[in-house]
Amino acid sequence: MQIVSSPEEMRRIAQQVRQEGKTIGFVPTMGYLHEGHLSLVQKAKKASDFTVVSLFVNPTQFGPQEDLDRYPRDFHRDRELLENESVDLLFAPEKSALYPEGFSTVVRVEGLTDRLCGQSRPWHFGGVTLIVCKLFHLVQPQAAWFGQKDYQQCQVIRRMVRDLDFGIQIHVCPIIRENDGLAMSSRNRYLQPEERKQAPVLVRSLAAANQLFLEDERSAARLVSAIHSTLARSPEARIDYVEVVDAESLEPIETVVDPAVAVIAVYFGQTRLIDNHILGEDLSY
Ligand code: PAF
Repeated sequence: MQIVSSPEEMRRIAQQVRQEGKTIGFVPTMGYLHEGHLSLVQKAKKASDFTVVSLFVNPTQFGPQEDLDRYPRDFHRDRELLENESVDLLFAPEKSALYPEGFSTVVRVEGLTDRLCGQSRPWHFGGVTLIVCKLFHLVQPQAAWFGQKDYQQCQVIRRMVRDLDFGIQIHVCPIIRENDGLAMSSRNRYLQPEERKQAPVLVRSLAAANQLFLEDERSAARLVSAIHSTLARSPEARIDYVEVVDAESLEPIETVVDPAVAVIAVYFGQTRLIDNHILGEDLSY
């Protein structure tokens, strides 16, 4: 596996690979890899001639009071995991190489980013679209893989790619869960033992709404209420938001007619966890 830190070198290699007529598959990450990331890597590998994974803890998507400094990092472990997956290239740039002195450009998707996570983290999606835009220019993939756990992020990136004509296929892959249903996330390691014990209430609350949906409940308010009742059983859970929204526009709905997704963000202590489920798809917890 090649390890590249220079953006210029990354661009040069990508150009060369494309000139050879090979397809580039890309998985952007912030590292501290878990099975969720590796499932994306495996899918990218299967579908591409040359697979690139980036590892960059992107400062512009963290708020001033957030966990940028303590975000978990383990480069050696990540490198080993990616080598085991036979990834072709690991792109791990320095912050100063991607954000040189005087950097002043923004990349913003309007509307989609104002709601849900955008309400409590107003800076977040601007940082995500900025870095993904830069990485797409450097890595020049034909396709990129993202996890459905970050549902809103996936919709925002799809919109950016469509609006700005990137010509990159965006694949959104199923959430990978621990045995007890907790969605895998690098931030799960922040949870205290009692919080970790209670955290699977997230998936159980989504499963409760999904069950109601399968029993033909179509009122968004009643589906949301089922999620609230389940979350209320966990004393550690503090709700940021619980909503049932249109699966594409993320707009609130009253009645589920088109595909809809239940999206939730819940604090356990200082740790904010997100989860979601497309209503009607399999989920038994
Ligand atoms: O989902 C993530 O890990 C990050 O938001 C991403 C897409 C790598 C951008 O920093």
